[in-house]
Amino acid sequence: MTMRSHIRLAVVLAMVALSPMVACRGDRSDKPPRQFLPDMDDQQRWNPQSLTKFFPDKRTMRTPVVGTVAFGMRSIVPPEGDEPWKQIVRAQRDDLLRADPQHYLGLTRQMDPAEAWQIDAPGLFVETIPIKVDLDLIRRGQERFNIYCAVCHGYAGEGGGVNETGMFGGMVGRRWSYAVPSFHDPKYLPTSSERTGRDGYIFYTARYGVEFGGKMPGYAHALSIDDTWAIVAYIRALQESWNGTLADVPEEQRRVLERQRGGIALQDTRGGTR
Ligand code: HEC
Repeated sequence: MTMRSHIRLAVVLAMVALSPMVACRGDRSDKPPRQFLPDMDDQQRWNPQSLTKFFPDKRTMRTPVVGTVAFGMRSIVPPEGDEPWKQIVRAQRDDLLRADPQHYLGLTRQMDPAEAWQIDAPGLFVETIPIKVDLDLIRRGQERFNIYCAVCHGYAGEGGGVNETGMFGGMVGRRWSYAVPSFHDPKYLPTSSERTGRDGYIFYTARYGVEFGGKMPGYAHALSIDDTWAIVAYIRALQESWNGTLADVPEEQRRVLERQRGGIALQDTRGGTR
């Protein structure tokens, strides 16, 4: 055999060896495909929107862990428009960036909240609640206030110590009568010229405490931003109602209040049963 015919034979053999690989490309077959380099071709997975017995809620698609942000989920350019999903994306983006100090810190300028309590600059704390105040927000504020603030400040915000109605503040506030102030002190009213009268100051105190957690603990770990504004709105409602009389209540609700007052009297006389 010549050198040339050796080479020719080698080429033919190589083609025969490779032909199955080339031949199956694009062919249809019911048999499992040949995998010459399987690597990670086959893995266990769930289809989107399908059922599983593995999780108690039977969903293969999991909801994001609360308080986390999935990488790449936030668009740099916020979507414009009023569709609900766009509003949600914009709100989530704002919550992530926290770029608006009025809304997120209760301050008129961006700064480290740890420094704000020491600064008494006029206008540092925002004057009025920067979000929409409606009845739902005030109701939410009432619920959160009763959970987080009433233990010390009392359900009516009356603080510790005896006042003209003979009331004491909260459970803890009663023991701290010398320390817990009443929200009905003129210096906490919106008409006050002191910083303590500003909505932003009450917001800030609720989140970071008095003297940044020194004399009163902050509740930022437990309250969302909007829940904190809701509490501020409710404290304003408490202040408004403090000096109110039954005559200020609309006719319809007045009857409800009078019935409740009757109920309390009944409870008192019959030793707690109605
Ligand atoms: C563990 C008890 C406690 C709880 C709970 C509590 N506070 Fe206070 N708060 C205090 C005390 C004590 C003071 C007075 C501190 C001082 O100035 O000596 C105070 C003071 C304040 C002041 C006045 C601050 C100032 O500078 O005059 C505001 C406003 C206030 N609290 C809001 C709230 C809000 C809103 C909540 C609920 C989110 C809340 N507090 C929950 C104990 C508490």
